[in-house]
Amino acid sequence: MTAQLTKAVMAPSIASETTDTTSGMTLQQRINNYCKETKYPRALFVGDDDDLFLSEGGKWIVGTWVMGNCYQVKSGLYGGYPHGYLKRVKALFPDKRNVLHLFSGKVDLAALPGKTVDINAENSPDYVDDAQTLEHVPLEQFDLVLADPPYSVEDAMRYQTTMVQRNVVMRVLGQRLRGGAHVCWLDQVLPMFRKDQFDIIGAIGIVKSTNHRFRVCTIFRRREGKNK
Ligand SMILES: C[S@@+](CC[C@H](N)C(=O)[O-])C[C@H]1O[C@@H](n2cnc3c(N)ncnc32)[C@H](O)[C@@H]1O
Repeated sequence: MTAQLTKAVMAPSIASETTDTTSGMTLQQRINNYCKETKYPRALFVGDDDDLFLSEGGKWIVGTWVMGNCYQVKSGLYGGYPHGYLKRVKALFPDKRNVLHLFSGKVDLAALPGKTVDINAENSPDYVDDAQTLEHVPLEQFDLVLADPPYSVEDAMRYQTTMVQRNVVMRVLGQRLRGGAHVCWLDQVLPMFRKDQFDIIGAIGIVKSTNHRFRVCTIFRRREGKNK
C-alpha cells in the first residue's frame, strides 16, 4: 500500500481487526477506504456471525448498496454491471494489482482495469474461455476476480450460452487462485463452494430500482495453504 493510502485506511477501526492476511488490510480498513474513495453513504459494516459459512474469525462485511437512479448500462449489454458497481468494488480493494473480470461481457475497464474472460469471442476478451475450465487463463497471477455469470437459464439464452454450473467455476477458482485472492461474485444465488478452499468475508445486497431483481455480491477469500 502507498504511504498515503496507509495513512487513510489504518485509522483505528471501530469494529473488527480481523486481518486480511495477504495485504494486511482489515475488513474495517476496506470499508473506511470505500467511504473515503467513493463518498457514498456509509452502508457497510463489519458484522459478527457464527454461521457455518464464515471463517474462524466470524467477522464479515455486510450491508446494502442502493445503486441510484442511473439505470443505463454504459455498454448497452443486457445484464451489464450497474452504474457505480465497479467503482465501489475497486474502493474496497485498493491493495489489488491484478484483476480478472470473469464472464466479462463488455465490462467498463476504465472503471476497474484488468484482464477479461468470456466464452463469446465477439466481446473481445483477453481470454476466450469457458469459466468452468479456464484452461487458457493464468489464474495464479490474479489477486481479485470479479464474476458476473448469467443468473438463470433465460439469462443464459440471451447470451446464447448454456447455464453455468456455479460450483464447477468455484472449484476451478479454488484450485488455482493463490491464498489471499478474493472473488466478488454477483448473483441471485450463493454459489456452492468448498470450505477448505474459500472463506466468505462479505455479502453486500445490491438494490437497483423498482422492478429490478435483488442481487448479492458475495465476497470470497481463497484460504491460505496448498491448493487443492
Ligand atoms: C451478465 S453478462 C456479464 C456482463 C458484464 N458484467 C458487463 O458489465 O458487461 C454474462 C456474460 O457471461 C458470458 N458467459 C456465459 N457463459 C459463460 C461461460 N461458460 N464462460 C465464460 N463466459 C460465459 C456471456 O457471454 C456474457 O457476456
